[in-house]
Order: sequence, then C-alpha cells, then structure tokens
Amino acid sequence: MAISIKELLNEGTANIGALVTVQGWIRAFRSNRFLQINDGSCFGSLQAVVDFNDFPEEQLRLLTTAAAIRLEGKVVESMGSGQAIELMVSSIEVIGIAAADEVQKTVMQPKRHSLEFLREQAHFRFRTNTFGAVFRIRHSVAYAIHHYFHTNGFFYLNTPIITGSDAEGAGEMFRVTTLDAKNPPLTDDGKVNFGADFFGKSVNLTVSGQLEAELAALALGKVYTFGPTFRAENSNTSRHLAEFWMIEPEVAFNDLQANMDLTEDFLKFICRFVMEHCKDDLQFLNDREAQEQAQKPQHERHELSLIERIAFVIDNPFKRLTYTEAIEVLKNSAPYKKKKFQYDVSWGIDLQSEHERYLVEKEFKCPVILTDYPSEIKAFYMRSNDDGKTVAAMDVLFPGIGEIVGGSQREERLEVLQQKCAAFGIPEEELWWYLDTRKIGSVPHAGFGLGLERMIMFVTGMTNIRDVIPFPRTPLNASF
Ligand code: 4AD
Ligand code: MG
Repeated sequence: MAISIKELLNEGTANIGALVTVQGWIRAFRSNRFLQINDGSCFGSLQAVVDFNDFPEEQLRLLTTAAAIRLEGKVVESMGSGQAIELMVSSIEVIGIAAADEVQKTVMQPKRHSLEFLREQAHFRFRTNTFGAVFRIRHSVAYAIHHYFHTNGFFYLNTPIITGSDAEGAGEMFRVTTLDAKNPPLTDDGKVNFGADFFGKSVNLTVSGQLEAELAALALGKVYTFGPTFRAENSNTSRHLAEFWMIEPEVAFNDLQANMDLTEDFLKFICRFVMEHCKDDLQFLNDREAQEQAQKPQHERHELSLIERIAFVIDNPFKRLTYTEAIEVLKNSAPYKKKKFQYDVSWGIDLQSEHERYLVEKEFKCPVILTDYPSEIKAFYMRSNDDGKTVAAMDVLFPGIGEIVGGSQREERLEVLQQKCAAFGIPEEELWWYLDTRKIGSVPHAGFGLGLERMIMFVTGMTNIRDVIPFPRTPLNASF
C-alpha cells in the first residue's frame, strides 16, 4: 500500500532503508535525475532519485511535469540540503501522462500565473502551491471550528437551506421554484401563484440559519450552525460571494458582553490553531505575500507580515467601542477633515468599508468590535436598547478585511419584538413560530455569524474572496 508523502516527510529518518510506494504528481524536475513528487497531503514534495540507466527510454520520456506516477523505492538519507530523506526509485509506473502541448494550455506550465488566470482554471488551480496551501488551511479552519464548539459544549445544528423566511430582511434572496418560468400559474389578480408551487408557498435559499438556531438554543442552550448561505447582492467586490459559508453560534442566557467575549475567544482560537497546525502552508503564503509586497510602493505595503498579523490578533485584546463613539472618531479624523472619504459621516449612516478600514487600520491598528448601532440600519431581531435609538448589535472589523463577524443580543421581549415586526413591515403570521418562543420560557440570548471565507482571507493573506473558496459563485459567474 502506498504511504502518503506527509507521513514520510513527518517521520523523517525513521524509514531509512524501508521499501515504500508513493503516488502523486510530478511537480518539478532537477538535473534530469531528481523528481519532486507531490500528492497533496502536505505542502512539501518528496525528492525521488531516478537513475536514468535503470529505465527504458520510452518510460523516461513520460516523466514530465504534471504526470501522475506511482513509484517504488528505498528511503535513503538525502545527500542534498533541504530535505532529510529521498527515495531511490526502483520501479516507476506512469498512471496518467501529461502531454507537453496539453500542459502548455493550462496553469500547470511551470511559471508564475496571475490569480485571475488561475480563477479561469478552477479545475487545475488546486495543483498549484498557492491553492494547495489555501485549501489545506481552509480544511483546518473548518476542523478547528467544530473542535472549538464541541469542546465548549455546543451542539452542531443543521438549519434548512430552503426556507420561506428572510432572516436579515434585506430582500437579497434566490427564489427556489419548480414553476415554469415562461408560463407560471396566476392568481385572480394576475400575480404568480406560488400556492401552486412545489412547497405551496414562495421559498428561497437561506440567507442565514439564525432564526432557526435561536429556536434550538432556547432548548439545547448552546448551538451552532455551519453551512452554505446565499445572497443575491449584486455587489461585485473582492469580499462578497453569492454563495458563502457561515458559522452561527447562538447561546441562551448570553448578553452582548458575553457574546463579544465568545467571539473574541473563538476568533483567537482559530488563529492559534492555524499557527500550530498549518506551519508549512502558512510559511509559504507568508513568503509569497512578502515577495508581492516588495513590488509595491512603500505606502501600500503591510506593516506586518502575514504570520505577524495572525500573531497580533492572538496576542492583543480587540478594541471595543460603540457606533456612536466610532462616528465621533471618524469625524475627528484627518481624512474626514480633508474630505478624503468618498462617503459622508453622520450619526445614522451605515458605515462604509472605507470608514471601517480607517478605524481598524489607521486609528486603532487592531481588531475592533463596534456595538450599539442605530436600530434602523440593523435587522429586526436585535434587542432594543433603553435609549430607544440603538440596538445591542456588534460587528467585528478585521484589518484588511473589514467586517468579519456580525451579531447581536436578540430581542427576547414579545411586545417589543411585535413592535419591531410592525416597524419593519414583517407580517407576524410569517414568523408565528419565532414569536411563539417569546411567549413560553423566553430568555435573553445572543449569537453571531462568522463569514468563513473572510476568516480564510485573513489567515491566508489572500486579498480576493474568490481565491479562498474552491468554486466561487459571483454575479454572472457559476462556472465549474
Ligand atoms: O452580518 P451578517 O449579515 O449577519 C447575519 O447573517 C446574522 N444572521 C448572523 C448572526 O447573528 N447569527 O453576516 C455575517 C457574516 C458577515 O460578517 C460576513 O463575514 C459574512 O457573514 N458575509 C459574507 N461573506 C461573503 N459574502 C457575502 N455576500 C457575505 N455576506 C455576509
Ligand atoms: Mg453584517
């Protein structure tokens, strides 16, 4: 049976003398004798030494970059620097050839490609060093998230992907229907009759599992969701996807303070986990970024390297302040006074990303938690504060990313929630099940949503969200 290259490299010199089989793809050639074999199990490649006198010409000709091969050989101490062991090859089986003219057409030709070009070849970009590193780290982050919640007594809850509700009230939903788009059934007043649709009502892909998670938290205490989320926002930015993954913990009896503490502890745990478990991949991305930065003018460069930025988040408390305080900070800022912000600043505005980035990157130079936003710009379910103007909301802002987490304490008081529904134009009949939980044994509770891809952007240093999800879905793009 074949051994993984990760195992072989991790075990170091322990296997010297052993006869092993490895299988993978040829990453590179050196001096016509040394093959670098990568099987995806880890960042590193295994050096295999082929004595060209031992193999027939026809077989050697097939050993080209990107070909899939199975090798048998003896593990020996490496003569060269850079690796502890190498494989003295005694048998070669070419499993999948890689014809040079085919390789030429793809991102697998051995040279540096732009990330944009790699995006057009999502089927091959996995085989590059960069995307191998990104997707191994993405796996580790997902694993760390489940680990964190499991060890802290949370239950993993699967909330529906098809739903009739618009939890965020932003109306950015993808409709799910089996009706004939060309000839839909109509009601008497000429509207599309969704009563005749598959579910007997109008449904959409979920924008958040929160409302359902609240129901479960009010019985199981601590739950979290981790699933795909869909938003038909037509914003073609480097931080938005139409299909992304969100993690939404929800905790009974937590207030906003406890919610902030949980968020901070959780985000720091993910950062520590990546630092401890993804060393090689992280080092590669760190160095890759450093090379890229060196090409940029001084004022556009990061002050800290990727690894330093992650360490900084782990080691420093997040800055916490209210939305109202943040507006004051922005109004006293140099860019505001010099009219450098594109969007105006006044109490009540939805902060733009230029404002968020100023607070995080220039003013406080650390992650920031903003709380107590104006009720008009936040969702209906957030708990009203005593001032009658703000709600117990919190957004976590990260350097280089902007908003990474959005959350709140929830409105647990039935009458206040009913007033909010009325004010937001949400018919109570649609949310009868949600309102019901405020009638029997209602308790204060709180939660938040972390955008998985934005977290991966932070820990990999990738600057476009399309490069941290295997198959990005964005306006006008659903290839692969
Ligand atoms: O702030 P949002 O909209 O919050 C909610 O959906 C709440 N129901 C969460 C909760 O309290 N349980 O979204 C949460 C996070 C954002 O902070 C952002 O990281 C990410 O989800 N996000 C997106 N990520 C990629 N593409 C998009 N279009 C995103 N929209 C939100
Ligand atoms: Mg938000």
